[in-house]
Amino acid sequence: MAVHATSLAALTRDAGILFGADFNPEQWSRATWHEDVHLMRAAGVNLVTVGVFSWSRYEPQEGRIDLEWMGEVLDLLADASIGVDLATPTASPPPWLGHRYPSTLPVTRDGVRLGYGSRSHFSPASAIYREHCRRIARAVVERFADHPAVRMWHIGNELGQVCFGDEAAIAFRRWLRARYGTLDGLNEAWATAVWSQAYGDWQEVLPPRAAPYLHNPSQELDFRRFSSDLLLELFAEQKAIVRELDPVRPVTTNLMGFFADADYRSWAGELDIIADDAYPDPADPHGPVDAALTQDLMRSLAGGDPWMLMEQATSAVSWRMHNLVKSPARSRLESLQAVARGCDAVCFFQWRQARSGPERFHSAMLPLSGADTDVHRGVRRLGADLARLRPVVGARVPANVALVWDWPSWWAGTQEALPSDRLDPLATLRAWYRPLWRAGVTVDVVASTGDLSPYRAVLVPSLAVMGTEQAANLESYTRGGGRVVLGPFSGIADTHAHLHVGRFPVLLRAVVGVSGEEWVPLPDEGSSITWSDGRVSRVETFGERLRADGARTLATFGPGPLEGCVAVSEHDVGGGTAWYVGTVLPPEALATLLEQITPTGTATRVSAPKGIEVVVRGGALFLLNHSRGPLRVPVRHLLLAVPRVDEARGTVVDLLTDTRFGPMDEVVLEIDGAAVLMACDGNGHPTAELP
Ligand code: GAL
Repeated sequence: MAVHATSLAALTRDAGILFGADFNPEQWSRATWHEDVHLMRAAGVNLVTVGVFSWSRYEPQEGRIDLEWMGEVLDLLADASIGVDLATPTASPPPWLGHRYPSTLPVTRDGVRLGYGSRSHFSPASAIYREHCRRIARAVVERFADHPAVRMWHIGNELGQVCFGDEAAIAFRRWLRARYGTLDGLNEAWATAVWSQAYGDWQEVLPPRAAPYLHNPSQELDFRRFSSDLLLELFAEQKAIVRELDPVRPVTTNLMGFFADADYRSWAGELDIIADDAYPDPADPHGPVDAALTQDLMRSLAGGDPWMLMEQATSAVSWRMHNLVKSPARSRLESLQAVARGCDAVCFFQWRQARSGPERFHSAMLPLSGADTDVHRGVRRLGADLARLRPVVGARVPANVALVWDWPSWWAGTQEALPSDRLDPLATLRAWYRPLWRAGVTVDVVASTGDLSPYRAVLVPSLAVMGTEQAANLESYTRGGGRVVLGPFSGIADTHAHLHVGRFPVLLRAVVGVSGEEWVPLPDEGSSITWSDGRVSRVETFGERLRADGARTLATFGPGPLEGCVAVSEHDVGGGTAWYVGTVLPPEALATLLEQITPTGTATRVSAPKGIEVVVRGGALFLLNHSRGPLRVPVRHLLLAVPRVDEARGTVVDLLTDTRFGPMDEVVLEIDGAAVLMACDGNGHPTAELP
């Protein structure tokens, strides 16, 4: 298979799954660096991210740059055959920058200029900050582009800063001019006739700063688009410097899952590797399923190619109010879950636990108490496990159901002054994902304007913003034989956040065969709906005053403000079918509905006990035990899902343990245990084709 040089595959082809962490040598002595490298090797570490927070060490005073110490670090790593993801150090400018040039510091919505002494204290709109970023990035890349340790480049860290200051205002105006051309265009797009907001001069246009009352929703939406574009510009500017000096090695930055301040969909094409930071809360019972959704998002952003888990914690983080630890087995399971869902690089924050600074209580691969610890033994075990998973490296994760997710709809669905602030789009997306996850249905997370043709069903839990392009895409997919499900409060507004005029969902009314006239937040006691088969479900939060215009009614509202109205409907249109869900269904009812809608053959054909996550990746079947106890799974229940198992006469091997199982055996999964099964020959060698 041809491997693009500027990709994750180019790195994993020889190294296998990448395994490592952020490494912050500036916090430690030279003697410690040597010990670190020795212990990294022993743990199977093959990649470390360095230089993320090195700017003040590189350049303690303006213009006085010393990169030699980093040269030593890279030499040590190269000698140990440990690759490096080298960062531009722009996430935390040195104090002199903020001190000398206060305009580089970010300004909040309330007009407060933030100080330095922490990190991320920069405005992405600041010309001076950007100039210094280019300068230091160029110095670092020029010096190390030919270093044998460097495998890839990392721009900044978790780009997410939003600034409301004067330079941000100038940049916002520039962005708006490019989008709307004229002030008339802007006034129309922002509907400034409302509340006497019409602009007569570009200088009057501002970010949506703290104001006496509610903000203009169209302005808010554009400011979020602009802020996302501005951060991407900051990334692209530093990436261009890398590209100029190193035409080949991949460049990335670390994303933050479902992060609201950047539209990662529009970023994805700029990143050579999709890389994510994931810190699921061990206290959250939905943690594993929400993590899976984020992983599916990352894989989808990567176009189905492998992605990178750039950061996670081995045990506790230190930034929540009460930081639960994770067992080494739990941490291992979380990493294996990512691999199951397409990840080929498993990294942590950070290698050695800090003894100082705000993150001194944050776990690491090497705790302060040393290598003779459960956490570190867990790390070594994981390193060995990942080395065993070579047969899945580069493999794709088949998915034939899509969940639609657009950032502008998320933004529009979380603005001020909506019918209800309880209908959170991300919560809705997660709620719809949960029954699919439990049923072993792997999904891609796609744009409403994306190519939907590969999918046998497309679920649209929450899509407030629907322009003609989005509507046409969903309509042609449905008419062409697709199955589409639309959730409540979808298709209500155009791309400027102006409501569509007419019975809703205006642009898709003919497709869904129902139409609505009023959004109806429900009283706290909720309401009930009755399904056509007589079942009754409690519903809560939100409903819509809908009537059937050709669709079959699947459920009708009971007593309350929506009595007699359609709650859920189904409509055949063209060769396909469209469902409309006009309320917030309880988990069981949603699960039943989605099970009926997702066609047979979309789930991994496995009847595994509850609590076991099942994912097929390439030729392997991953079984991940998230339940509270050990579970046994008969191999014969799994066989339909194991690729090429027929030729292997039902014999499978667990890549993690090399244990061979026949069709009459059982796989035993301990708490937080996992198995990765592949069809194998009589000698236990996997028979599936390697990618
Ligand atoms: C991330 C960040 C790391 C570290 C980590 C701690 O957000 O990129 O530098 O702070 O959190 O969990």
